[in-house]
Amino acid sequence: MPPKLAEQIDLQGRRHLLDLGGGPGTYAIHFCQANPELRATIIDRPMTINFAAQAIKFFGLQERIDFLGDDFIGASIKGEYDVVWLSQVLHGYGPEQCRRIIAKAVEALSPGGMIMVHDFFLSEGKDGPLFPALFSLNMLICNQVGRSYSEREISDILSENGVRDLTRLPFVGPDESCVLCGKV
Ligand SMILES: C[S@@+](CC[C@H](N)C(=O)[O-])C[C@H]1O[C@@H](n2cnc3c(N)ncnc32)[C@H](O)[C@@H]1O
Repeated sequence: MPPKLAEQIDLQGRRHLLDLGGGPGTYAIHFCQANPELRATIIDRPMTINFAAQAIKFFGLQERIDFLGDDFIGASIKGEYDVVWLSQVLHGYGPEQCRRIIAKAVEALSPGGMIMVHDFFLSEGKDGPLFPALFSLNMLICNQVGRSYSEREISDILSENGVRDLTRLPFVGPDESCVLCGKV
């Protein structure tokens, strides 16, 4: 799925992607493979570094992808980025934390930068589609604050933070995941 997605997103002219909560770097790797001019920084908890290092090495991308082990809520995000990729992270948090995370992600962008949020979006009635609704229930059971969000909820937070030209990409991933995209 990540290679298919990476082919469908136009990152031409973009130079530095921040993969916030990027885990093992699956998406950073495939975005870099699809875009030879792009480099990427993954920020995730320090315990993830070994998985990311192995994956990055496997694809021979050590020169283009680096990993910062930190809690991105507490840490200030250094560096200049023209793309932020936020994938499957917001559903782990309640609305207030999502606001903080999105504000930080947007702050990390240089003017003209692009933010993409990939997640399981609920319909506006919040009773479907099936997988995002079940996943929301799963998050409620697991950590009490996380849940799935509707496209409107996330778009509103992005707009409050100055993100414009918001669109939902035509891509639909496994379990009905979708990508919301905008620019600052
Ligand atoms: C569900 S995984 C998604 C991984 C990857 N983005 C993807 O889509 O395959 C969520 C990731 O966010 C990271 N994460 C969540 N909150 C974080 C925080 N406050 N600081 C650093 N990493 C965080 C987790 O460690 C985990 O790797």
